[in-house]
Amino acid sequence: MTEAAEAVAAPDNRARAPKPAHVPDELVRDVDMYSLDGIEKGYHEAWAELQAGDTKDLIWTPLTGGHWIAMNGPMIREIYENPDRFSSEVIFLPKEAGEKYAMVPTRMDPPEHTPYRKLLDTTLNPKRIREREEMVRKSAIRLIEDIAKKGHCDFAKEYAKVFPVHVFMAIADLPVSDAVKLGEFADDMTRPRGDTPEEMAECLDKANQGFFRYAEPIIDARKGGTGTDIITTLVNGTINGEPMEREKELGLISLLLLGGLDTVVNFLGFMMLYLARNPEKVAEIRDDELKLRRGVEELFRRFPVVSEARMVAKDQTFHGVELKKGDMILLPTVLHGLDKNANPDPFNLDWERNGPVHTTFGYGPHRCVGLHLARMEATVTLQEWIKRIPEFGLAKDANPSFQSGIIAAVDDIPLVWPTK
Ligand code: HEM
Repeated sequence: MTEAAEAVAAPDNRARAPKPAHVPDELVRDVDMYSLDGIEKGYHEAWAELQAGDTKDLIWTPLTGGHWIAMNGPMIREIYENPDRFSSEVIFLPKEAGEKYAMVPTRMDPPEHTPYRKLLDTTLNPKRIREREEMVRKSAIRLIEDIAKKGHCDFAKEYAKVFPVHVFMAIADLPVSDAVKLGEFADDMTRPRGDTPEEMAECLDKANQGFFRYAEPIIDARKGGTGTDIITTLVNGTINGEPMEREKELGLISLLLLGGLDTVVNFLGFMMLYLARNPEKVAEIRDDELKLRRGVEELFRRFPVVSEARMVAKDQTFHGVELKKGDMILLPTVLHGLDKNANPDPFNLDWERNGPVHTTFGYGPHRCVGLHLARMEATVTLQEWIKRIPEFGLAKDANPSFQSGIIAAVDDIPLVWPTK
């Protein structure tokens, strides 16, 4: 090793968990999910670099409290679809922080999870989402028309962080002005601050309580109400024929606020950054409405943003590796969509890819309930943006910044285009 390489590899002061006896030395590798090596090149690029070469399918890192990482696509899906072996009892890392996370029903396994999920499905199913399409489209057009005149914008700040938030707040019948506060709570939950698992747990707990305090009076006000917004529907729903317990109600409404805000925001940011850098991809769909609509699934394959975990439910041997009950396994969904064995030439956005394979929305019983809304928001954004800003690129001095975490983030996306 050269002197320079030694300096880079020198031990840092991040908290490291001791290696449990059942973890073989050859599977240990330093991976910090909240500060990925190479993140400056891009979030997806940094994970893909880790997956490349002779990296094992399952590795263990002493960082973030010590946990396994599933490194290939099919394995990520297999873990998602087997809740009896891989429980949702804790889904955020570090585990200390995940134990504080009190959202409902993401921490429940079937059969407890099932009635909550049925209730959620009544609010966000394809039919209910189609009924909102006009409102969603109007909201996109209003924003894009204002932006288009200028000839430039910071896409992250002026569109990605605004549009999904407006849509979600309208569906939930909440004032848009509350979104700033909720956005701060969401940041602290999905990329909690702190150098140790305990500090991160404290940060996440505070944010979780912030969501609960926000949701409490809203739930009370909408009990017995007749509104058609998703919160009124949920708080007047029943679980196995009974009214929901208070803590469960708070957890359910808070989860919707969290799920609806941060995910689409960052997905749209990654999508547009790529399109600005690859104008030929925009040209391919500019006059081809069908290709655009069919290609939206490929966008979700190409730009996954979520990395949650599962807890090992019982001692077992999994793909030849010994796992102990209580071990945590991180599932970076990016490693499925960008797994070259699942999708050849994975970094290329191929609008006509035959059956893009991904786990961007999770899989199994907890598969994202908001995916129909997310799909519609992505489709409408592309349609209305390209109509008004058919050609755009990244500003010369652009320096986008990336963050890894439970939900990956991208900021600073300066776009430019010609105006008449
Ligand atoms: C690009 C956008 C989105 C992505 C990538 C995404 C991703 C995911 C993933 C990976 C899960 C699985 C979690 C698990 O198994 O532990 C999930 C669950 C969930 N998502 Fe999304 N999501 C998106 C948009 C949305 C939206 C717009 C909403 C709400 C309006 C939403 C609400 C939820 C809820 C409530 C769950 C929990 C479902 C359950 O536990 O049964 N998501 N999402």
